[in-house]
Amino acid sequence: MNMRPSARVLALAALAATSLALFTLNISAKEKVSNPLITQDATGALGTFTTTGSIDINNPFFQELGANGRTCNSCHVSSEGWTITPAGVRARFNATGGADPIFRTNDGSNCPSADVSTVAARQSAYSMLLDRAVIRVSLHTPATAEFTIVNISDPHNCAETTITDPSLYRRPLPSTSVAFLSTVMWDGRENAPGKSIAQDLQQQAIDATMGHAQAATPPTPLQAKAIADFQLAMYTAQETDKLAGDLIQRRATGGASNLSQQEFFLGINDPLGGNPSGKAFDPVVFTTYSAWTGLAGSDATTRARRSIARGQALFNTLPIPITGVGGLNDALGAPVINGTCTTCHDSPNVGNHSVAAPLNIGIADAPALPPLNTTGLPVYTVRCNATGVEVNVTDLGRALVTGRCADIGKFKGPILRGLSARAPYFHNGSAATLGDVVDFYNQRFNLNLTTQQKADLVAFLQTL
Ligand code: HEC
Ligand code: HEC
Repeated sequence: MNMRPSARVLALAALAATSLALFTLNISAKEKVSNPLITQDATGALGTFTTTGSIDINNPFFQELGANGRTCNSCHVSSEGWTITPAGVRARFNATGGADPIFRTNDGSNCPSADVSTVAARQSAYSMLLDRAVIRVSLHTPATAEFTIVNISDPHNCAETTITDPSLYRRPLPSTSVAFLSTVMWDGRENAPGKSIAQDLQQQAIDATMGHAQAATPPTPLQAKAIADFQLAMYTAQETDKLAGDLIQRRATGGASNLSQQEFFLGINDPLGGNPSGKAFDPVVFTTYSAWTGLAGSDATTRARRSIARGQALFNTLPIPITGVGGLNDALGAPVINGTCTTCHDSPNVGNHSVAAPLNIGIADAPALPPLNTTGLPVYTVRCNATGVEVNVTDLGRALVTGRCADIGKFKGPILRGLSARAPYFHNGSAATLGDVVDFYNQRFNLNLTTQQKADLVAFLQTL
């Protein structure tokens, strides 16, 4: 096939029956995308609502601004919660023999120098992308770092993965609902002092074009602004659930359109007292399904709705003895904080942090707590120069931005909407399902959750 890559995406879309990208709708530039845009996911339907009337497929977000055929849409796909999933990546591999522009060695393969000359070679070179939909992010260890990487145990034996330029395998974050962000990227590295999130997003669009798309020249300021504005206008959430039905029935306020009405400002609900309006922290962060609490009726739909409401109540109020969390326990000088899920997931009805708060809950620890799966991730032994203390991690997190020992393993808590469309979870995709996420927390904080409580929490999370 000797087509321009964008034509290839369209042709591929026509080939594949499953929804791969926004383009699978086979819309021509003149037609309008429905608003909200609805796609099927694991537990029902996902919706993306834009306040601009309809998704503009002529936005530079969908254009090749670089040199390797990629667009933002290569790694941020509407039907995959505006990130990518292993199923979606594999479908693209199978449809193109690994020629789709997402399969590029700069950051798609396990190693830049991998052999990609045959389909079989590509299958193995892109195994991390195919298995857990992670991208290889290579960051330079700051020259002034308080730590030294003293050993790398790399399953891929990659020559380019070094102590000065470690490879981190990370999930693309959703490029939607970004109006709620308090920090950009897992490690907050796109947050510039004194700049707004909207400005950070423009810089992020420039950096993504130069990096992921290997552009020789950056996008114009107008293009960067158009991309940022496009993302800032979009809101994504689950619309229907296979068991509970329409998520706006019986006065529930699920779905993307309701999400677009949600109030937000930096610090809107900060447990550490950072709300600029002076308002105290409210642990009741989610009210989306409050109206379903104690609904009368014994039919399957009503039972599912009650379970979701119970899950929401657990999320808001289940006591969690928070210990050993870098960025929280150490910052407050409190060995135990009697918190809830919402101590960390505090933005009302959104669930990210309402202020930038990098935290280490142990997702990058090696070995990881079960049921987290870290197969294929390199393990870095990091020594803090001042103390000589060594830790083993699969990702240094925020520490590669600040150079601080205290920031090793710290990541942001992402927006918790549209979860059902975008497994696997956590920055490295180590939790295959929402059940695994809940099992992780159960272990990590000794919650002794009952089978019913776990099921209720999962029922709730998958309707977000
Ligand atoms: C090759 C895949 C790939 C491409 C192409 C790509 N991204 Fe990403 N994107 C990622 C990954 C991986 C991350 C998370 C990286 C990290 O945090 O270290 C990310 C993070 C983001 C975030 C941060 C969201 C948040 O919650 O902080 C935004 C916004 C984003 N991308 C937008 C874009 C835009 C706009 C483009 C096109 C200019 C683009 N991306 C192209 C893989 C990609
Ligand atoms: C001590 C802070 C803290 C507490 C308590 C906490 N979380 Fe998290 N949560 C985080 C952080 C930080 C991340 C991102 C970690 C990473 O990927 O490295 C996260 C990630 C998640 C994710 C994955 C999102 C994604 O896009 O991958 C889910 C789902 C989640 N948390 C649900 C919960 C639930 C349910 C509870 C309560 C049982 C809870 N969290 C309690 C801090 C916390």
